[in-house]
Amino acid sequence: MATTTARISLPGPFQGLRESLTEARYRARHKSLAVGLGTLSGAWHQVLNPKPRPSPESVRALLRRMDTLLERDLQNVRDGLYPRSLLFQMPVARYLAQAPENAAEFGRVWWRRRKHAHDDLPAPARDPAYPRYYTRTFHWQSDGWFSAESAARYDAGVEFLFGGTADIMRRQVVPAVLGATQGRATPRVLDIACGTGRFLHQLHAAHPKARLYGADLSPYYLQYAGDLLRHVPGLSLLCDNAESLPLRDGSFDAITSLFLFHELPKDVRRTVLREALRLLRPGGTLAVLDSAQLVESPDIAPFLEEFPNLYHEPYYRSYLRDPLEEAITECGFEGVRVERQFLSKLVVARKGR
Ligand SMILES: C[S@@+](CC[C@H](N)C(=O)[O-])C[C@H]1O[C@@H](n2cnc3c(N)ncnc32)[C@H](O)[C@@H]1O
Repeated sequence: MATTTARISLPGPFQGLRESLTEARYRARHKSLAVGLGTLSGAWHQVLNPKPRPSPESVRALLRRMDTLLERDLQNVRDGLYPRSLLFQMPVARYLAQAPENAAEFGRVWWRRRKHAHDDLPAPARDPAYPRYYTRTFHWQSDGWFSAESAARYDAGVEFLFGGTADIMRRQVVPAVLGATQGRATPRVLDIACGTGRFLHQLHAAHPKARLYGADLSPYYLQYAGDLLRHVPGLSLLCDNAESLPLRDGSFDAITSLFLFHELPKDVRRTVLREALRLLRPGGTLAVLDSAQLVESPDIAPFLEEFPNLYHEPYYRSYLRDPLEEAITECGFEGVRVERQFLSKLVVARKGR
């Protein structure tokens, strides 16, 4: 039987009230998530590496930055940059259902960290085609990037680390892509190191006409992304190394990359940036979101410096002191701008014409 859904349009004042209530619900949800997850992860980090508590001043800085992120997210919705539905798209029920498995993962992480077992990986990781820097148990997570189980656990783990703000930070890349692809009927957008596809999922909701491409070196993460994005027409997922992708020069209007660069050695960061430059059309836009760095975020330095003491992040210390904006300029991009996004930074630049 065919069904129709009626859209109820409320008179102006009621519409405004409904929006205010939605926004209040969003703030309450994220602030309580942040308090809950922040308390849990703080306790967990004390188990991993007992330390004096961070100063009240740096905690206040962190909270201010989170408030700014939440308000920017709401403003982007008011400005029509992405749909309101994205505000509540985090699959909380799925993450909760995974809690027993993720609780077991805490024990494995603790053990692996204690043994410094950064090469505790399944057999596929021994394929010599993988670069050496890649075959490590990043974050001490079981199987590194080399199993379907790791891919299934990843999203909840990242939300735990970021106090429930990972998807919010990811979608701050959407406005840059919209700006870059204005006036193009079906712009082509490539997400380098797309992982489980969380960003492409949000980008599709905001920009359904864009033709989306995702590349990642993990077949397991790509498989997961393919399932999440099965409703996206024309999607292409490519299992390959971001250093050299089998794609034509100048074939993309916009290229994005989220949370990749802090996991690469310094020289490889540049190789990937040069590859992105090659793949962009003249005038095309690059948008990179990754961990905050010391240069623009000294206010949260104690948290940034502590991260690699807790998790296996062999290139993070060098990343903290290698400003992304400088690397991007060095690799030939123009018009570089930087935005702070809570625990991350967004760097947007373009290829010259
Ligand atoms: C921290 S995850 C970020 C994933 C995703 N962008 C996100 O927002 O969650 C890093 C991803 O980079 C991928 N990766 C690391 N080095 C790579 C390389 N050289 N080429 C392609 N993908 C790579 C990993 O397989 C993993 O999926």
